[in-house]
Amino acid sequence: MNYKNVVLLGGSGFVGRHLAVELAQRGFRVTLPCRRPQQLNGLRVLPNITLQQANIMNPSELSAVCKGHDVVINLVGILNETKKISFRKVHIDFIKTIVQACQNNGIKRLLHISALGANQASGSSQYLRTKGEGENLLHSYGQNKLEVTSFQPSVIFGPDDSFINRFAGVLRLCLGAFPLACPHSRFSPVYIQDVVSRMADSINNPDSLSMRYPLCGPETLTLQQIVEQIKQVLGKRCKIIGLSSGASKLQAMLLENLPGKLFTLDNYRSLQTPSTCDSQHTPCPTSFSGYLKGLPGQYSRSPFYDSYRQHLNR
Ligand SMILES: NC(=O)c1ccc[n+]([C@@H]2O[C@H](COP(=O)([O-])OP(=O)(O)OC[C@H]3O[C@@H](n4cnc5c(N)ncnc54)[C@H](OP(=O)(O)O)[C@@H]3O)[C@@H](O)[C@H]2O)c1
Repeated sequence: MNYKNVVLLGGSGFVGRHLAVELAQRGFRVTLPCRRPQQLNGLRVLPNITLQQANIMNPSELSAVCKGHDVVINLVGILNETKKISFRKVHIDFIKTIVQACQNNGIKRLLHISALGANQASGSSQYLRTKGEGENLLHSYGQNKLEVTSFQPSVIFGPDDSFINRFAGVLRLCLGAFPLACPHSRFSPVYIQDVVSRMADSINNPDSLSMRYPLCGPETLTLQQIVEQIKQVLGKRCKIIGLSSGASKLQAMLLENLPGKLFTLDNYRSLQTPSTCDSQHTPCPTSFSGYLKGLPGQYSRSPFYDSYRQHLNR
C-alpha cells in the first residue's frame, strides 16, 4: 500500500488540526475542506496542506473535493444536536455521502473515527447509538468495496482540547463549591498525539484493514479524580461536590436549555457507559496525570517552575 493523497473531513476540529500536521510531517498531501478555512491560518504554513472552503454535506461538493485523492479520513462528529442538524444526519447519513464520493472517484481507503462505547443496538445515548450505526454501516460497505479502518477513542486530551479546557474554564469561575454531575463515570483519557500517530501509522498498514481499534490511555480515572487533578493544576481552592444520579440528571435537564448546552441529557446518558478498554487492549503510552503535572512547567510564568521547564526542554 502506498497511499499519499488524503482528504481530511472534520479537519478543522481538535483532532483534525493535529492529524493534519502529523500527516503533513510524514509527507502525505492533505486536502482539508471545511466551512471556515480562514480560521485555520496556522495550518497554511505547511506546504502540503491545502485548505478549501466547501460544504462537505453536499454530495456533489464532497465528490468534487475527493477527485484526485486516494484516502478519505472522516472525523466529522457532533456531541449535541441542534435545530439545524441531527446526530442521524452527521453520524449516519453523512457516511453514505462519503461512500458515494469515494465510489465516484475510485477511492478505496477510508479511515473513520467513532467513539469508545459506540453501539448501534445498546449504546446508552443517541450519540453512542448513532456513532455505532455509522461505524457499522462503513464496515459493511467495507466488506467488498472499501478498505476501512475505524478508531474508538476514550476522551482525548491535549493542549487545545475541549475536555480539560472546559473543566478548567468552569473551575476558574468557581466560588467555593463546584457541583459535578456523574462523578463516578470512568474514563481512560488518551493523548491527542498518541491518537493521531496511531491513525497515521495505519493508513498504509495492510494489517489494519477492517479493524476497529479502541484507543485508551494507560490510566483509568473517575470524572471526579480527573476534575480534582485539573483543580490542583489551577491551584484553585474549590470543593468538588459529586452529585447523585438524580441530581446529575436534573442538572442536565436545566443546562441543556441554556445557551451553549454545557451539559445535556444525552451527554448524561453517554456518561452511563464507561469509556474504558478491556484488559487485552495495549494502552497508548501518555498518561493524563503525567501530562497535567507538566502543564504548569510549560505555561506558568512563575519562577517556581523554572527548573521544571529546563527539565522539560532537555
Ligand atoms: N475529542 C474527543 O474526546 C473525542 C472522543 C471520542 C470520539 N471523538 C470523535 O472524534 C471526532 C473528532 O472529534 P473532535 O474533538 O476533533 O471534534 P470537534 O473539535 O468538535 O470537530 C468536529 C469536526 O466536525 C466538523 N463538523 C461537525 N458538524 C459539521 C457539519 N454539519 N458540516 C461540516 N462539518 C461539520 C467540524 O467542522 P467546523 O469546524 O466547521 O464546525 C469539525 O471539523 C468526532 O467524530 C468525535 O465524535 C472525539
